[in-house]
Amino acid sequence: MSLTHMDILVINSSTGTYNGTLKTYLLLQVDIRDEDALDAVFASTRFDAVIHFAGLKAVGESVQKPLFYYDHNIAGTINLLKVMAAHECKKLVFSSSAAVYGSPKNSPCTEEFPLLPHNPYGRTKLMAEEICRDIYRSDSEWRIILLRYFNPVGAHPSGYLGEDPRGVPNNLMPYVQQVAVGRRPSVTIFGNNYATKDGTGVRDYIHVLDLAEGHIAALRKLFDSSSNIGCEPYNLGTGKGTSVLEIVNAFEKASGKKIPLVIGQRRPGDAEILFAGTGKAERELNWKAKYGITEMCRDQWNWASKNPYGYGSPDSTKQNGSNSH
Ligand code: UD1
Repeated sequence: MSLTHMDILVINSSTGTYNGTLKTYLLLQVDIRDEDALDAVFASTRFDAVIHFAGLKAVGESVQKPLFYYDHNIAGTINLLKVMAAHECKKLVFSSSAAVYGSPKNSPCTEEFPLLPHNPYGRTKLMAEEICRDIYRSDSEWRIILLRYFNPVGAHPSGYLGEDPRGVPNNLMPYVQQVAVGRRPSVTIFGNNYATKDGTGVRDYIHVLDLAEGHIAALRKLFDSSSNIGCEPYNLGTGKGTSVLEIVNAFEKASGKKIPLVIGQRRPGDAEILFAGTGKAERELNWKAKYGITEMCRDQWNWASKNPYGYGSPDSTKQNGSNSH
């Protein structure tokens, strides 16, 4: 089963409050831009809260097709919020991104840093955040948590669930993975003359298991009646910076494969160093990332080696899709 931006995973808790136990679940495929279809879903069941992952996320594609991105990420979010309000469901966890910060001059980057996204993708995340802040100002019954993801990587340790980007991967880890399984000849390092420990870009990679736990922590906060949450952003990262070369070395160790490297030009718009300040999430969500680069690469390789072509086959051509949360 693969989730796309048009799928809604409906999870009912029979108690009415989230207690960590999933009672039943149901997968419905609905385009969130289709307000009537969304309304029918909300009319069918009373929902306690929504986690909104339904966004497109490929930066390059957002530059090529900005209206496509604004339509999915902004019009879709507005529809969702309207339908939620109409059905008196006013608890939301929103998938935002560290892309809202652009390229901050310093790290750790805290939630108070200026919000200066570089590209349409990042701007859709910022605009959706602003919409959330405005609806809370207009109606204080809303409780909204904006989760700003840093660099999610890794896979479920079972090896059954992992990322399967369509076409050429935009992000480092899926690219490294495809080189390790022999689908691509080498990884191009986007610049090795940055002012970092080894000259390559530094980022805050976070295991998807930790990211998932961050959402559970956010839901708990939303359902904690003693907290006056309003509309609050939280960084989800480890607080540690790792360079491109460190990722490649860790992946070589995890996989036992040699990853051939080519040194290329800097990628326009890339930050030199970006890692999260995690204090606010630790204090207020009672959440802290547990896994390091070794576990991220171990689980990424477990998924890759069991599924070298992701959910497809060597013959499947998957060139025209958009990556989505
Ligand atoms: C990118 C997006 C960001 C998005 C995030 C989602 C850009 C500019 N930013 O972040 O908005 O929220 O993905 O995970 O696209 N690198 C290489 N070779 C490669 C690929 C990447 O050297 O083939 C380097 C990059 O220069 C960077 C690091 O690896 O230093 C991580 O890159 P990437 O995985 O694309 O993530 P971000 O750019 O941090």
